[in-house]
Amino acid sequence: MKISTLVSKIPASPTLSITAKVKELRAQGKDVIGFGAGEPDFDTPDNIKQAAIEAINKGVTKYTPVGGSPALKEAVCASIEADYGLQTTPDNVIVSCGAKHSLYNLFLTLFEQGDEVICAAPYWVSYPPMIEIAGATPVIVDTRSEGMKLTAAMVKEAITARTRGIIINSPSNPTGMLVERKELEEIARLCVEHDIIIISDDIYNKIIFDDKEFFSVATISPEVARRTFIINGSSKTYSMTGWRIGYCVGDATVIKAMTRLQSQSTSNPTSFAQEGAVVSLRSDQGIVEERRKIFEKRRDLIVSKIREIPGLDIIPPDGSFYSFPSIKGYLDRFGSAEGLADYLLEKVLVAVVPGEGFGADDHMRLSFATSEKNIIEGLERIKHALTAL
Ligand SMILES: Cc1ncc(COP(=O)(O)O)c(C=O)c1O
Repeated sequence: MKISTLVSKIPASPTLSITAKVKELRAQGKDVIGFGAGEPDFDTPDNIKQAAIEAINKGVTKYTPVGGSPALKEAVCASIEADYGLQTTPDNVIVSCGAKHSLYNLFLTLFEQGDEVICAAPYWVSYPPMIEIAGATPVIVDTRSEGMKLTAAMVKEAITARTRGIIINSPSNPTGMLVERKELEEIARLCVEHDIIIISDDIYNKIIFDDKEFFSVATISPEVARRTFIINGSSKTYSMTGWRIGYCVGDATVIKAMTRLQSQSTSNPTSFAQEGAVVSLRSDQGIVEERRKIFEKRRDLIVSKIREIPGLDIIPPDGSFYSFPSIKGYLDRFGSAEGLADYLLEKVLVAVVPGEGFGADDHMRLSFATSEKNIIEGLERIKHALTAL
């Protein structure tokens, strides 16, 4: 059957296909070490699980309001106040089936043909396709020459009369980089001057290392907050990727329009998953910090192991659970990151995500949401495969 022109143009998410490939090889009994994971390897905390189980037992198994239950919206507002110092009301919140779904609704609600949306590369794989699905044009700003840090000068150069939006993802997937505070301040000033909407995808805001701190563009001034949409969700902070709870916080008129869109597609996110999300936000956050420390230790380990491999180069990530080494030293040999990734999977059963899908074909992404044992063994295998060339 004929596939629509719109869907024909959509690439499959490369990160999800790597995960599927690893599962398939493991099912065949192969001892694969996977660095593809876009999700914490920890389990969802017990109190959150219990809340969802109790919700099911209590009969919270029916439709909720389309944009999320009042209790979850209130919990999101409380967490925005605690983390950003911003006063919001439930009218400023929509809960969707994952942050990805919130972003999708937001792009479709805000952008259309003729609009340009600035997006820093290396980028999260889904931004450009989602912008294109909305009919708009992603304008890619390559940060590789600046140590993968987005700067205001780069943004200034990319702005045209058609620029409608900019995505800020700090810490970033796949680089783990934070955008520096002074750059964010200047970017925000440019956005006010040129009437540009800011999408602040803060999904890794609780996984930041060393003495660095999360700084959100939304906190710069009320004027900047008014044009900013904060995206976050349960997936990364609370190890709840399968629960599919994400949210967007911003201008009430836009949130209402997004809710209309959601009412004609998925309706509400799963009722009892929302109950779990309420507990995640309302309960003691100690476990988040515990897990952040584990990620930091693994970050140190993976960076040191990558640095032992000739031809690889790494800027240590400020946050997230991704490392994104340069593979320039091997490009002549393999022609592309995909070629290198195929070689590693075939030769030593190590799965990495090639950089092409992130707009950086001279890099590969290794997630460190895996045990120290896997990091040591996996990097040993990569070293062996590459030094054997
Ligand atoms: C930068 C970024 N934004 C959004 C998401 C979406 O997360 P979810 O839909 O699981 O909430 C991800 C997941 O990989 C991500 O890396």
